[in-house]
Amino acid sequence: MLLLNGPNLGVLGRREPEIYGTDTLADIEAAVAEEVRAQGWEVLSVQHDGEGDLVGAIHRHGESTVGAIVNPGALMIAGWSLRDALASYAPPWVEVHLSNVWARERFRHESVIAPLASGVVVGLGAFGYRLAARALLHLAAAPRH
Ligand code: DQA
Repeated sequence: MLLLNGPNLGVLGRREPEIYGTDTLADIEAAVAEEVRAQGWEVLSVQHDGEGDLVGAIHRHGESTVGAIVNPGALMIAGWSLRDALASYAPPWVEVHLSNVWARERFRHESVIAPLASGVVVGLGAFGYRLAARALLHLAAAPRH
């Protein structure tokens, strides 16, 4: 499965820890891997600060992954190329935000990718990635639910 993180998420752990927590991206990768291990899934973790690189990763790994967890970071707001790339990503995917974006500034209240996601996990910190991984396992087993 694909674990895709957008801009500024490579510095998790030291980036505004009062908002995003102290878990690093490596911690999150390990947590997600632990959730899906029993299913025999491996985690391909990709983090880029640039939108074009994220688009490329989605196209590159679209056919070889069973699902994705996507935290678009601020690209949630106007990442139209990211949105278009995800539109062509066939497996189920879940959007995650560590912080409760609706409790924050108004510009974070809408996500251009959310309408395409199977579901969205918001505001539960790093644990949200574990929940998203469990959701993917569920979706892979019963794709229409
Ligand atoms: C974020 C929320 C976004 O609004 C912000 O730009 C981020 C992180 C989150 O995980 O809470 O970079 O996606």
